[in-house]
Amino acid sequence: MAISKPVLLAILCCCICSYHSAAVVAAGELAGGDAAAAMAARHERWMAQYGREYKDAAEKARRLEVFRANVAFIETFNAGGKSTYWLGVNQFADLTGEEFRATMTNKKGFSANGVRASTGFRYENVSADALPASVDWRTKGAVTPVKDQAQCGCCWAFSAVAAMEGIVKLSTGKLISLSEQELVDCDVHGDDHGCEGGEMDGAFQFIVSNGGLTTESNYPYTAADGRCKAALAANVAASIRGYEDVPANDEAALMKAVAGQPVSVAVDASSFQFYQGGVMAGSCGTSLDHGVTVVGYGTASDGAKYWLVKNSWGTTWGEAGYVRMEKDVDDSRGMCGIAMQPSYPTV
Ligand SMILES: *[C@@H]1O[C@H](CO)[C@@H](O)[C@H](O)[C@H]1NC(C)=O
Repeated sequence: MAISKPVLLAILCCCICSYHSAAVVAAGELAGGDAAAAMAARHERWMAQYGREYKDAAEKARRLEVFRANVAFIETFNAGGKSTYWLGVNQFADLTGEEFRATMTNKKGFSANGVRASTGFRYENVSADALPASVDWRTKGAVTPVKDQAQCGCCWAFSAVAAMEGIVKLSTGKLISLSEQELVDCDVHGDDHGCEGGEMDGAFQFIVSNGGLTTESNYPYTAADGRCKAALAANVAASIRGYEDVPANDEAALMKAVAGQPVSVAVDASSFQFYQGGVMAGSCGTSLDHGVTVVGYGTASDGAKYWLVKNSWGTTWGEAGYVRMEKDVDDSRGMCGIAMQPSYPTV
């Protein structure tokens, strides 16, 4: 690989923040034939860091190969220095792109003709001039701590619940962590299929007809499909009246909605696997396969405008669980399709 030693060390120091100094020393000592041993040792440290265990030596050897290829990809990307964001050797470093998408994203994708709201867009007449330059709903206490969907493709439930937690806080003054598992187990009709995928509007519709949702602690997350526990679900902690769709492919409309409340969006997450920080920009697909929640927007110190997005992959991913995605791009569908299917619950 053509990365010179000082450059590699600089990247490890400034970008891969979670890497302890031992990894830096090991990389610095890396030389010729020792490279394979150093990579195997790095894989061991990574396994310990993320509590990863493999069923046998063959699986471990296979995972080491994937890890090696991913580390090379990440280091080459970061060393290029051409991007406004950087990648890190995170908890997904031993998964191929296909494996990552199969477990972490919405297997069924987001259908263009799924459940969509038939009601209006309440932020329609908000003047663009009246919008704040930046919004961060976390500073208003309207965002719960980052959650972790683990090996279950129910991002749609996390996206919908985060948007609901936001509007419940803004309307009642109470921030209540609500139950994704209730959606996974009980919202099993129409487009929603637990760990196999679903739609945020489908989740909102279920919550409306169910009369609300119970709390995270009352109906905790298991990262697996389960039977609906009606007695737990009956203990409603918060409710919504309905939901509305933001006009599609219109980032200005999305900005009006986000200035009003956290908003559920679907994105193409094919370039999300190793994101660690910065404003994600550049080419990205529009095959919507992941549900997340926009909880703000702003402008980075270098002038790049971004959407502030809450993900559900724990805090070791991205910027403590968040990603900033380029805002107001040339494509009306937005970065990774973020403006294609936004929606929000109403109270
Ligand atoms: C926006 O303004 C138009 C024209 O006055 C009006 O017909 C429409 O109902 C308004 N929309 C909302 C959501 O208030």
